[in-house]
Amino acid sequence: MRILGIESSCDETSAAVVEDGKKVLSNIIYSQIPIHQEFLGVVPELASRKHLETIHPVISRALAEAGCGWDEIDAIAVTREPGLMGSLLVGLTVAKTLAYTQKKPLIPVNHIMGHMYATALEHKVEFPFIGLIVSGGHTLLTIWKDWLSYEIIGTTIDDAVGEAYDKTAKLMGLSYPGGPMIDKLFKEGNPNAVDLPLVMLNKDKDRYNFSYSGLKTAVVYYVKSNPDFKPADLAASFQKKAIDVLVKKTLLASEDFGINRVVIAGGVAANSYLRASFDASPLDVYIPSLKLCTDNAAMIAGLGYHIYQENPTQDFGVDAVDKIITGKIKQALRQSGKRITL
Ligand code: KG4
Ligand code: ZN
Repeated sequence: MRILGIESSCDETSAAVVEDGKKVLSNIIYSQIPIHQEFLGVVPELASRKHLETIHPVISRALAEAGCGWDEIDAIAVTREPGLMGSLLVGLTVAKTLAYTQKKPLIPVNHIMGHMYATALEHKVEFPFIGLIVSGGHTLLTIWKDWLSYEIIGTTIDDAVGEAYDKTAKLMGLSYPGGPMIDKLFKEGNPNAVDLPLVMLNKDKDRYNFSYSGLKTAVVYYVKSNPDFKPADLAASFQKKAIDVLVKKTLLASEDFGINRVVIAGGVAANSYLRASFDASPLDVYIPSLKLCTDNAAMIAGLGYHIYQENPTQDFGVDAVDKIITGKIKQALRQSGKRITL
């Protein structure tokens, strides 16, 4: 079964063709980073306008590179949640229109679950595993028993880790996105040069939760009182604390739940220190290659295959949802202990 995937939840327009949830025949990614760079962050209105311009050429290229005409496409999978509303709507509306006119099933996919699935395009992963999702919008510790549902055990109580990277880079006068810039400086700096906090949140209810606002505030004060700071040392010290807490909490969850297998996904999974730290840990770790860490449609088409196998019914009335994960986390935290299925 060949599925055309479409992803437009944030600032990447992407289309891909994936066979049987595994074989990537094409994965075209058009990044809008140069457009948003001068604003030091994603401007939602500019993002959706650019998606409108690029989405059809990106889809055409994905089909051409896969060597497929519409006859060889069996279904269309599309990101419906979570993300920027305007951006999601472009992809979802195009996918609905193509599915309707080409008479193909439409498969709505959750972006976060797609990120996790990116690993399955390159590795055979057995269940259960602990999933660590680290991106610009999310920092989640999760437990997976199959590809179609997961249990959230921890989240950030304020900023996401990627957001903390982007905000810290902005404070240091670096450009957007901050993650790759700080990661590059890390290699030239001393990670112990600046005394920044490792925020573990020791209360029981926060055992698997994260907080990044304290670390960011510590950087604000450091920059104010040391205007001649060394960028490489500050970047290295920030990165060490930002990543060490992810490793420590993942190890905690691994011990508590007796699960040694860990899958890591999302833009921050591209980080060199994160990859090295997890490699050096006793965990059995799977991280997608760099191209599959950031937003891409292959992960959406791949997961779409499993969703379709489970539930081939379709609904053209499906809507885009910008923040469903946050809402469900809040609900989940209130009813703590209950399994959450998305
Ligand atoms: O998953 P993603 O492409 O988009 C979503 O947020 O869904 O993640 C983007 C985030 C940005 O915050 C960016 O700064 C961060 O991933 N990032 C990194 C690295 N590459 C990208 N953070 C740390 N180190 C990196 N090498
Ligand atoms: Zn993403």
